[in-house]
Amino acid sequence: MAFEIVATGHYVPANRVTNDDLARTIDTSDEWIRSHTGIGSRHVAAENEASSDLAFQAALNALEQLSPGNPMEAAQTIDLVVVGTSSPDYYGFPSCACIVQDKLKLEKIGAFDVVAACSGFVYSLDAAAGMLRHGRKRALVIGTDVLTKITDWSDRGTCVLFGDAAGAAILDKTDAPEEGPGRRGIIRSILGSEGAGAQELMCERGGTRNPYKAGETLDKGIVLSMNGQAVYNFAVRAFTDTIQDLLDLEGLSVDDVKKIIPHQANMRIIRAAARRLKIPEDKFFMNIEKYANTSNATIPVALDEYARSGDLQRGDLIMTVGFGGGLTYAGNLMVW
Ligand code: UT7
Repeated sequence: MAFEIVATGHYVPANRVTNDDLARTIDTSDEWIRSHTGIGSRHVAAENEASSDLAFQAALNALEQLSPGNPMEAAQTIDLVVVGTSSPDYYGFPSCACIVQDKLKLEKIGAFDVVAACSGFVYSLDAAAGMLRHGRKRALVIGTDVLTKITDWSDRGTCVLFGDAAGAAILDKTDAPEEGPGRRGIIRSILGSEGAGAQELMCERGGTRNPYKAGETLDKGIVLSMNGQAVYNFAVRAFTDTIQDLLDLEGLSVDDVKKIIPHQANMRIIRAAARRLKIPEDKFFMNIEKYANTSNATIPVALDEYARSGDLQRGDLIMTVGFGGGLTYAGNLMVW
């Protein structure tokens, strides 16, 4: 029994905002943003677009691969929806996954969100695979975020980094072997957390620790904050360790891996890890230049772009690696 991705999709909002556009409203420059992050532009959701809207479009894009011209029909084969998101439509509940389930006109299936910040899609894939083991057949796994609506647009240290997007994968339980020759699907996942670093990247207001009080004026609204240097150091360490640990646990070398699909937070994080692990940079699939950091969506969007590039063949070994708020880190090793 194997748990393998049979279709992928993604969606980005229409509005593309370049670094030069940002430089017109805050004290920054295209040169600074590119040289410090590798980001060239980002897509920003419309006022009436929330995370579930992006997620629904990404899901349709994936389902279209299964049933060209009739994605809603293919949707009826799904019996589990798992959504990784840090910016759900509503605080606490309902989950983004329930809204997606309703948009897809699904009934009598489980639907829930996973909160693991930018590692959320990797966590969600592993959670869904575990749940397919117990009776279900097909899961829709989505990473979606609209972080631009919880961003402080006067803070140049964070606002240049983020964008909005969603990516989706259809995960099937199949008869392919999970071990030995011809194995396919997710063969190993690592999920990690370091809650001691929670304050380094957080949305401090709005939860039950610091609730919004009636009549209170919030200058900046409810926005995320980040200690960039601390997160950078954590990210390089966690990212490097996750890749090495996945390889060691399976007795593999990096040469066995066709491509690593990393969380796209900063090109310099990838370069630093590549140097430490002595991995060529082209082993990593990168699209941060176009989309910036879309949190839960970076990995499924990159996976979809890579899968559609024609380079990914059945039997190829690939790896996803995420890291982010929590602090969390995670990786999946899978045979396509
Ligand atoms: O997905 C979640 C995970 N998040 C991350 O992985 C983010 C990890 N952190 C980072 O990627 C980097 O720390 C940043 C990109 C956020 C910042 O890069 P940095 O090289 O660490 O810059 P810095 O914060 O040390 O700032 C260097 C200088 C400062 O000016 P002074 O004090 O040297 O005069 C900043 O004020 O750059 C300034 N600066 C900017 N200048 C122009 C900070 N942001 C900007 C900006 N434009 N947007």
